[in-house]
Amino acid sequence: MKFKGLTIGIPKEIMTGENRVAATPETVRKLVAEGARVIIQHSAGVGAFFEDDEYKNAGAIIERDVEKLFSDADIIMKVKEPMFNEERGKHEVDMMHEGQLLVAFLHPANPMNHEMVKNLAKKKIISLSLDSIPRISRAQPMDALTSMSTVAGYKAVISASTMLPKFIPMVGTAVGMIQPAKIFVIGAGVAGLQALATAKRLGAATYAADVRPEAVEQAKSLGAKIIDTGIDPKDAIGPGGYAKHLPEELLEKERNSFKEIIREVDVVILSALVPGKLAPILVTEEMVKSMQHGSIIEDISIDQGGNCALTVPGKVVKRYDVTINGTKNIPGSVPVTATHMFSKNILNFVFILVKDGKINLDLNDEIIRSALVTIDGEVVHEGTLEAMRECVEVKK
Ligand code: NAI
Repeated sequence: MKFKGLTIGIPKEIMTGENRVAATPETVRKLVAEGARVIIQHSAGVGAFFEDDEYKNAGAIIERDVEKLFSDADIIMKVKEPMFNEERGKHEVDMMHEGQLLVAFLHPANPMNHEMVKNLAKKKIISLSLDSIPRISRAQPMDALTSMSTVAGYKAVISASTMLPKFIPMVGTAVGMIQPAKIFVIGAGVAGLQALATAKRLGAATYAADVRPEAVEQAKSLGAKIIDTGIDPKDAIGPGGYAKHLPEELLEKERNSFKEIIREVDVVILSALVPGKLAPILVTEEMVKSMQHGSIIEDISIDQGGNCALTVPGKVVKRYDVTINGTKNIPGSVPVTATHMFSKNILNFVFILVKDGKINLDLNDEIIRSALVTIDGEVVHEGTLEAMRECVEVKK
């Protein structure tokens, strides 16, 4: 039995508005069947509509004292990075102990999390971040970031549809045919493709743009009309086939190629991302001004700074009669599906971190190496170390 002798702790998420939880009764059952002792914090599942009794029936122990949960566990499975627990007056990292394994979305390169990451190292906690799992085929069942982008792409269209002062599908009525809404998706990666598929299902006329020809092909196969970015793929694609950060003059060229379509569409979904960089600004204030009154921008790249110059992080604002949605943590607003996917991703990941009842990290495994943030008292995550160095440079 893989987990025999190991205790796994699942605390309730404490970030405001976070309704997800790291385990469902279904995944708890799988851990218990492999010999794990699973402790789940009282009411940890309520945001995703799982009751304590369901976890209990799956074999978990319900714990009211979160500090005891952290202290008893060998492995902590969480959704979001450790934070300050206002109720306890204590940071979650301070509830943890040496040698403990932590798996969560740590966003370790984000400067806001640098101190927390350093404290994880100081406490000799072995931490792995789900947002650093590489997008290779073997890692797909563990790729929580892809799962959450799928949720975000879907919800962005649903959110736009509720705010849009129009129908989305073409509807024949006694007073004539109502034309379908036009939805333009910029950045046809995981989130963008899901947005296109959802928009199509709702009956919208869909348009898409991306700098990678592969993404363009996929958007086309979902029925979208392609808007040419005017960027040569040779200039746009970097190592590993990912989009590169473009210089300002190429971004200007790209923005120019969007000016006409932006004036025509009802909804713009922004999901253009360059891994590890700030999101490129592809919609300027001038472009927002040119849009039809009542139209909607869903800027889901907001965690990386956003693709629209006027987006306000975490807020829905109205500028020039255009609603711009900069809501963060979109998956937290679809907690049932997001938890269903997340809990399976984290379970599949934890399964490769344990062998014969012991934490066993194979550092030759690309997936584990990429996700590892702290071990043996050190921060080892390349992107984080680079971001930490940049912050020191800026302060100088
Ligand atoms: P992805 O890497 O799969 O897709 C990004 C796409 O943007 C790629 O196809 C890339 O080629 C394209 N791109 C990059 N530069 C471009 C440019 N200059 N012009 C046109 N296209 C360009 O990323 P994924 O997983 O789809 O995520 C997209 C965004 O959604 C990210 O910023 C991510 O953080 C965000 N997201 C937000 C969530 C939220 O709660 N707000 C939840 C999940 C994802």
